[in-house]
Amino acid sequence: TSLKPYNTFGIDVKAKHFVSISNVSELKKVLNSSNYPNKLLLGGGSNMLLTKDFDGLVIHLNLKGIAVISEDHNHVFVKAAAGENWHEFVLWCLANNYGGIENMSLIPGNVGTAPIQNIGAYGVELKDVFVSCETVSIENQTEKVFDKKDCNFGYRNSIFKQEEKGKRVITSVTFKLTKEKHLLNTNYGAITSQLNEMGVNTPSIQDISKAVIAIRQSKLPDPKDIGNSGSFFKNPVISKTLFESLKDNFEDIPSYPVSDAEVKVPAGWLIEKAGFKGKRFGAYGVHKKQALVLVNYGNAKGEDILKLSKLIQKTIFRLFNIHIEAEVNLL
Ligand code: EPU
Repeated sequence: TSLKPYNTFGIDVKAKHFVSISNVSELKKVLNSSNYPNKLLLGGGSNMLLTKDFDGLVIHLNLKGIAVISEDHNHVFVKAAAGENWHEFVLWCLANNYGGIENMSLIPGNVGTAPIQNIGAYGVELKDVFVSCETVSIENQTEKVFDKKDCNFGYRNSIFKQEEKGKRVITSVTFKLTKEKHLLNTNYGAITSQLNEMGVNTPSIQDISKAVIAIRQSKLPDPKDIGNSGSFFKNPVISKTLFESLKDNFEDIPSYPVSDAEVKVPAGWLIEKAGFKGKRFGAYGVHKKQALVLVNYGNAKGEDILKLSKLIQKTIFRLFNIHIEAEVNLL
């Protein structure tokens, strides 16, 4: 089976065996089967770079369903199955006027993979609305619920990228959203200017979603047209000492505050400064409107993109003495 339709990078590698599962008991049965020692779980395929054929069983998580499980006067607890498309879930919430995830409109991927890397955009992170997630152990199929504390969320990070990496399947996620008194997050400059442009003074959650969609569409490639995995790298956190010394040579280097001793620097800026923005190497390259995004124009091999990412890392290290870490998972 070709995995091309199952990864947003659009890499054409093959899986020896492939199964799509639509309920948890099916999932447990497949995980328990000893016929396939090598197993790979695939959600939305939006955060991985496949670099070779997979000699085992690929399990496509097609668990569906969204339901309100409880509510109080201003909050609603919504549980969504792992295989729900993230953006469709956002739209469902907006249609019901449930607030909290509008800033994360149009992020590729599925609900079940969102907690793994604590997806985030325009001032909001998944952890801000996360209550818990249900999981199944890959090894022995026992179920375990992780609440927010258990997940150790950090910037593009969680326990599922650390201790629990490769050990569990997230089968559903429960969110706490607002019903009426929405807490809007419009601190992000790009949102304010977009809302102004739209002529909106008192934005609704639906307006914010529209603004975010417009911003994303203006600089991020749609995986339907150009294969990509969103930000390929994380924004690096560096010491203020290093930052100050870089400022001597690069006056305009941007930063976001992290702590008294550290700042975060946009990797997109570093990559652009290093001359890679918009560079195309045949079938793959660096996106022309956002240097943090590596793209597949058609028939690129995962290995080629991996090589490009390593070249970028090496160049950034040489120029700025900063290591930028890949955000996508490599396989
Ligand atoms: N910049 C450049 N050149 C570029 C890209 C960015 O100079 O080609 C500089 C500019 O100074 C710009 C700044 O970087 O002002 C920030 O750019 P942007 O607002 O596009 O955000 P980002 O830091 O590059 C992060 C997330 C995105 C998220 C946006 C908005 C990470 C790794 N990426 O990107 O998330 O949408 O903020 O909140 O944190 C993703 O994770 O896949 C993703 C797209």
